[in-house]
Amino acid sequence: MFKKLALSAVAALALSGAAFAAGGAGHVEDVDFSFEGPFGAFDQNQLQRGLQVFTESCAACHGLKYVPLRTLGDEGGPHFSDAEVRAYSANFSVYDPELDDDRDARPTDHFPGSSLENAPDLSLMAKKRAGFHGPYGSGMNQLFKGMGGPEYIYSILTGYTGEEKEENGTVFYENKAFPGGWIAMAPPLYDEQFEFNDGHSNSMHHAAEDISAFLMWTAEPKMMARKQTGFMGAIMLAILASLLYLSNKRLWAPHKPRKDNA
Ligand code: HEC
Repeated sequence: MFKKLALSAVAALALSGAAFAAGGAGHVEDVDFSFEGPFGAFDQNQLQRGLQVFTESCAACHGLKYVPLRTLGDEGGPHFSDAEVRAYSANFSVYDPELDDDRDARPTDHFPGSSLENAPDLSLMAKKRAGFHGPYGSGMNQLFKGMGGPEYIYSILTGYTGEEKEENGTVFYENKAFPGGWIAMAPPLYDEQFEFNDGHSNSMHHAAEDISAFLMWTAEPKMMARKQTGFMGAIMLAILASLLYLSNKRLWAPHKPRKDNA
């Protein structure tokens, strides 16, 4: 029985390995992001650069419709001043049903949705896609490297090979990270595309890291608070567990035979 089980497990593994090779699961690179690990935190400058990359490149096609503009001022996030958030918001225009007309967006509005129909909304993309679990990695991988959502985005942005092909009027670009190997998004990033006012490197790889970190923040803006709460919870549980252990010992002490009598 056991042998049979073990055999089928081996067969299943071999099969999934074959599917992995044939199905073209993408190759996802590991990136050391500042927000990884139990004490990791978002890097405010990186998030600000990431917003710039989004605005100057991705926003031409993609939206962030679940992200309220005012959160750009949040501590633990990009932490822009109120005036900066207001000025940034006014770049977008939204339809106001009360005016029955378009007006400049305000911090209380959300980012617009995607302007290109087949470009998915990016608000939650870093949590929707995971590079390091499911068929693409083991549970252990996930424990040590995180879910791999931002890594997946980074790998897509830097995974173009330069090959392209046309099918039924759509151009597809070969991409090492995209499952299937061909994506309908033209390479959006190139070296020296941006001018960052904190003087940070604007190589394509650095810009890709910045936008991926920014999209992790849009998908999970309260990550820092969650980690803190989790950590406090773990400490409280440890204290509670030791108290329970000690009181349990004490309660049962009179009923237990003493070792020297036994
Ligand atoms: C010219 C339009 C355009 C621009 C600019 C653009 N994208 Fe895309 N993007 C697309 C389209 C179209 C798709 C859908 C591709 C597909 O499904 O084959 C896509 C898909 C994606 C995906 C999803 C891949 C998946 O797993 O489904 C991610 C992530 C992404 N884009 C990120 C970005 C980022 C980050 C930027 C800015 C640096 C950006 N895109 C700029 C058009 C664009």
